[in-house]
Amino acid sequence: MVLKEWHMRYPSKVKLVDVGPRDGLQNEKETVPAEVKIGLVHRLQDAGVREIEVTSFVSPKWVPQMADNAQVMAGIERRKGVRYSVLTPNMKGFEAAAASRPDEIVVFGAASEAFSQRNINCSIAESIERFAPVVEAAKAKGIYVRGAISVAVGCPYEGEIAPERVELVARLMKQIGVQHIGVADTIGVGTPVKVQRAMEAALRHYDLNDISGHFHDTYGQALGNTLASLEMGVWQYDASIAGLGGCPYAKGATGNVATEDVVYMLRGMDIDTGIDLDKQVDAGKYISDWLHRKPNSRAATAILNKRAG
Ligand code: HMG
Ligand code: MG
Repeated sequence: MVLKEWHMRYPSKVKLVDVGPRDGLQNEKETVPAEVKIGLVHRLQDAGVREIEVTSFVSPKWVPQMADNAQVMAGIERRKGVRYSVLTPNMKGFEAAAASRPDEIVVFGAASEAFSQRNINCSIAESIERFAPVVEAAKAKGIYVRGAISVAVGCPYEGEIAPERVELVARLMKQIGVQHIGVADTIGVGTPVKVQRAMEAALRHYDLNDISGHFHDTYGQALGNTLASLEMGVWQYDASIAGLGGCPYAKGATGNVATEDVVYMLRGMDIDTGIDLDKQVDAGKYISDWLHRKPNSRAATAILNKRAG
């Protein structure tokens, strides 16, 4: 096959949702002040990020780091063309979230019963019952509804996850009206073909335009999994600035793929993301400095080293 034909398989543009302020910071032990989170959101939008997952409206007893959700949402200077999303596990979360005017909400379920119980304290079936009124209420207010399917390839409690489990949750989410589905490798154990199978399972119920990948990088596979999904035509991904993140209910899982690394890869493939990599590296440095660590991004590290001469 000639090179040109290979190129044709990839989408010409990619939409990246930076989940750093939410997924990235939810697992930090030290309380990150609301001003710092707001500062991060501002730097991300300055870098050209058009989709930002800002916070979650979950129980502060379960995830103390997100307790300042309303304050963070209220403090953001909203920019035209930027969409702000938040996580809402139930009606209580949705009502609080709605007051903060998100463009999009995320209901988050799981492909394994054990993870569903640990993360949101209910079974998969119960989670769908909780999500249904949230989806209805959000749509009534014109708020877009995304769903996340956690542990779509592997679960910390149940091990490998069959694609049929993903297919089931995608079907249930579709039935209650969830508009977009994210296939999440929560603990970063996936490898390209397994991820493609999980994507394929979700694609049985969702259009290619309504599906995204959310890959944690625990085993260093997230860029490979992104490329494997790009080959299928999937053009929307979550990624986390400076590779921050993890889920408090998925021990040992590290952050999402670093947004800087994804942007570097896509830029090299002539795939447009609308993001200015240099400014994005600045955003990653800002939050990493605050956390007293180096950005967990190979591209950011290389760029920062180059800058230092
Ligand atoms: P529960 O205990 O079953 O809820 O928690 P409940 O309805 O029985 O209520 C118990 C208490 O929580 C009550 O307060 C409620 O008012 C309160 P009390 O009377 O004891 O004082 N409560 C709430 N407070 C604030 N906001 C709410 C809310 N709901 C109830 N929305 C719940 C169920 C889902 C709330 C809980 O399990 C929870 O908060 N879990 C947190 C899960 C979480 O945030 N995980 C991390 C995000 S998901 C993720 O990272 C994965 C993702 O990145 C994709 C991937 O990588 O896989 C998206
Ligand atoms: Mg995640």
